[in-house]
Amino acid sequence: MDYNRLLVTAALPYANGPVHIGHLAGCFLPADIYVRYQRAQKRDIKFVCGSDEHGVPITIRAMKEGVTPQQVVDKYHAIIKDSFEQMGISFDIYSRTSNPTHHETSQAFFKKLYDEGVFEEKESEQYYDEEAKTFLADRYIVGTCPVCSNPNAYGDQCEKCGSTLSPEQLINPRSALSNGALVKRPTKHWYFPLNKYEEWLKQWIVEGKKDEWKSNVYGQCKSWLDNGLHPRAMTRDSNWGVPVPLPGAEGKVLYVWFDAPIGYISATKELTPMWSDYWQKEDTKLVHFIGKDNIVFHCIIFPAMLKAHGGYVLPDNVPANEFLNIEGDKVSTSRNWAVWVHEYIKDFPEQQDVLRYVLCANAPETKDNDFTWKDFQDRTNSELVSIFGNFINRAFVLMHKLCNGKVPKLHQDVMDDADRALINEIQNAKANVEANIENYKFRDALFEVIDLARKGNKYMQDKEPWIVAKTLAENPDNQKLIDNCLHLCLQLTANLAILANPFLPFTAKKMCGMMKVVDRMLEWENAGKINLLNVGYPLRAPELLFRKIEDEEIKAQVEKLHANLVKSQAEQKVEQKETTAETTSNIPEQKPEITIDDFAKIDLRAGTILSAEKVEKADKLLKLEIDLGFEKRTVVSGIAEHYKPEDIVGKRVTVVANLAPRKMRGIESKGMILMAQNDAGKLIFVAPLDEALNGSEVR
Ligand code: MF3
Ligand code: ZN
Repeated sequence: MDYNRLLVTAALPYANGPVHIGHLAGCFLPADIYVRYQRAQKRDIKFVCGSDEHGVPITIRAMKEGVTPQQVVDKYHAIIKDSFEQMGISFDIYSRTSNPTHHETSQAFFKKLYDEGVFEEKESEQYYDEEAKTFLADRYIVGTCPVCSNPNAYGDQCEKCGSTLSPEQLINPRSALSNGALVKRPTKHWYFPLNKYEEWLKQWIVEGKKDEWKSNVYGQCKSWLDNGLHPRAMTRDSNWGVPVPLPGAEGKVLYVWFDAPIGYISATKELTPMWSDYWQKEDTKLVHFIGKDNIVFHCIIFPAMLKAHGGYVLPDNVPANEFLNIEGDKVSTSRNWAVWVHEYIKDFPEQQDVLRYVLCANAPETKDNDFTWKDFQDRTNSELVSIFGNFINRAFVLMHKLCNGKVPKLHQDVMDDADRALINEIQNAKANVEANIENYKFRDALFEVIDLARKGNKYMQDKEPWIVAKTLAENPDNQKLIDNCLHLCLQLTANLAILANPFLPFTAKKMCGMMKVVDRMLEWENAGKINLLNVGYPLRAPELLFRKIEDEEIKAQVEKLHANLVKSQAEQKVEQKETTAETTSNIPEQKPEITIDDFAKIDLRAGTILSAEKVEKADKLLKLEIDLGFEKRTVVSGIAEHYKPEDIVGKRVTVVANLAPRKMRGIESKGMILMAQNDAGKLIFVAPLDEALNGSEVR
């Protein structure tokens, strides 16, 4: 099928928190790369997104923060929108589902299906909170987990053992809103008969998309279809969301997964009066970029809704990515284990392309992947700085030094095989980047770009124009060799700008500035050409494109991650205590009185940590070697979640020196070090402030 226009969507993020780099890597960055490339191809394309402002995640956040849902979405919509802008995610529109256009559009969509008799009306018994006078979403129902006996499991999931639950399975269910008991009440909802679309979906996906869609996407769809589809409620009892547009439906809203994808349509409507071309003309190619947790909604439910409505195009592809883990651990917003985009921008000003680069080079395209700060540093320093940036910098410096700061001529008479091979490589790179992007293989595409820069470096290294320059006195004709080398290196630089532009737009723009060319040069049809810079044209001095990332910077980031984790744990402890109303204070109760003789039994000594290492298979323990002056001691201490071994060597400590030895994980621990806690819950060393001799008594 030949397409005449493209419509690209990126999953609407929930406005219940900021976006993290996992969101970027999974969905928004690949979408942006794809769109920037298509724009450079001068294709008719629209790129739409917005905040998903309805649903339970928003109301839960509001409850936690003690504000209204509207305040929650206003706050996070602004933060998210700004993060995207800063990162150069170039939506044509970033809308929000609380907009009137969206309410109207999604209500009209629902109404049409209703009028045509698509929905099945069903009454069922659901949990009702009489005190709060409301039906409760599964998340709002808490009770004891039937699997692990966690007393605070949710109606949809137990966070302790990970079991998926339904409210019926909870023992002693109660309301998370009022903490009161629950009653069952009948309530009416409208169900979309997915089962009636099963055959059609099978044909469309199993027969039509098997080889086109990514295998992770196809596989998930296939297993849903194999398991059989069932009617699904498209309405909920809630007062936050798009009201159900039917008489007698007070207190009912559209299910968030019904209204949110329609948000793509509403956003297009807000963007352009030509919106229906993009949604209703068959020669439109619709592509949904999403994360893997959204596959069923975009590949099964939404297409069935569109089909039921009629008149809409269906997605040509849904290139969903897997998840990006952080430093070996799953991203968790509740544990605050995440790298937040707005914080990255603050910590690394002007370094957007570096993050774009690392997230694309390491994108979870076929399997979950890991982001580590070390890898961030390595890729930046050894690929962007040493290969890409270095090549361009050398080309410019040498052009200023050996060619009067102007683009030198290409002398056909002295062209050799290496020159011709390089020209070939430029053309190959264009074809490869193009094919990879069209097939949603952004990692491979980016690799081609860096590889071309690598080849440029090699070419320059082989040609050694700085050595040739030393022969000029004897052999002035050799200037031609220098000219050819730098002519090609500069044309290669122009090509790198075009090819890198979808991935590194800020850098490509800077490069245009250095080359004194207008942004139009970045149009894709110019890639592969070697006449992009005119002979005799003076170029600017090189700008630094990338800077090295220092050890301290990434060390600080890793520490921040861990500190956030500890802090969120402390906050959650406080929260738990507050909700269970045990005590409102974080400070433990006082212990019973003791005499001076009791105290004198404890032999406290000042010491210094000589060495520290992790204890195998124990996340919390560090094995410490401590100098007590009169002897060296091994002490096993539970501080591994708070300190890295290398950071505490040399630290002063106070040791309980006469504690009975104890074996921990096979290591004999002789003594204990004193620790206090700060208000973030981090353990702090209790140690002599000034020099006290190792071994001196603490009394
Ligand atoms: N808000 C959802 C999420 O973050 C995605 C919604 S995508 C849409 O998982 F299609 F519904 F818009
Ligand atoms: Zn459980």
